[in-house]
Amino acid sequence: MKLGNKSIVVTGASSGMGKAIVELFVKEGANVVAVARRTERLEALKEELKDEPGTVVVHTGDVSRLEDCESMIDEAVRQFGKLDVLVNNAGIMDDMAPIAHASDEKFRKVMDINVYGPFAAMRKACQVFLEQGNGGNIINVSSVGSMHQAAGPVYGASKAALNALSMNTAFMYMKEGIRCNVIAPGGIQTEIAASMGRPDADGYGRISSVLSMAPAPGLAQDIANCALFLASDESSYISGDLIKVDGGWTSF
Ligand SMILES: NC(=O)c1ccc[n+]([C@@H]2O[C@H](COP(=O)([O-])OP(=O)(O)OC[C@H]3O[C@@H](n4cnc5c(N)ncnc54)[C@H](OP(=O)(O)O)[C@@H]3O)[C@@H](O)[C@H]2O)c1
Repeated sequence: MKLGNKSIVVTGASSGMGKAIVELFVKEGANVVAVARRTERLEALKEELKDEPGTVVVHTGDVSRLEDCESMIDEAVRQFGKLDVLVNNAGIMDDMAPIAHASDEKFRKVMDINVYGPFAAMRKACQVFLEQGNGGNIINVSSVGSMHQAAGPVYGASKAALNALSMNTAFMYMKEGIRCNVIAPGGIQTEIAASMGRPDADGYGRISSVLSMAPAPGLAQDIANCALFLASDESSYISGDLIKVDGGWTSF
């Protein structure tokens, strides 16, 4: 098993990529704290995986709240005696509104969940990693929208900020053995569109030319496979890297 005895926190575990990551990680022997707001979905995931080699601890939390970001890390240490890997996967989209009619409300909400949450969780995780004294591992789920116009400006900015936080963390802690890498998915079949609300017609119209270049959507498992590699010791000398998982969409 590739993750036997590893203690891992995964956010956004109630759906899509986060759920697929937890499923694969637990099958590979990991002990996972699964975080999201919808407790009933996390409970169902725990039940689904009860006979697998690893374990699932349900942790209801909202990553835009400092106390929830810190308590999920504390929970991993309390339950499993240590923290090995943090996966910041929870995220939402904006409504694709071009900046002239983008709202403050959307900006703050997207930034709180997509940037502040990972920031607060990474800070707490790095404090624990430094205390443990034997390195650590962070995987942040960004988007090709951080580099290409595949979503709205607020979403792109939030994911670009996440990339920058990740690279800085990899750099700052390379000597302490704390790794930090980014997965940048392309179009993946999940429930993410629901987080957009009603897309802005003008913004969606402009972005649709880029969307029309995309190959068939990928699966949440495609992202989980990449996360497994980054979480495992097979990638132990890889840090400060960004891996696109987009079927070639943004290779232009
Ligand atoms: N699907 C794509 O095409 C695509 C492409 C590029 C990047 N991404 C990124 O991939 C990541 C996963 O998205 P997905 O596609 O798997 O979407 P999804 O199916 O909508 O899943 C999103 C997850 O995030 C959780 N979440 C949302 N807000 C949260 C909050 N405030 N606190 C805690 N958890 C929260 C949701 O759980 P609750 O609602 O239960 O809290 C859910 O488990 C996101 O960061 C997204 O930006 C997706």
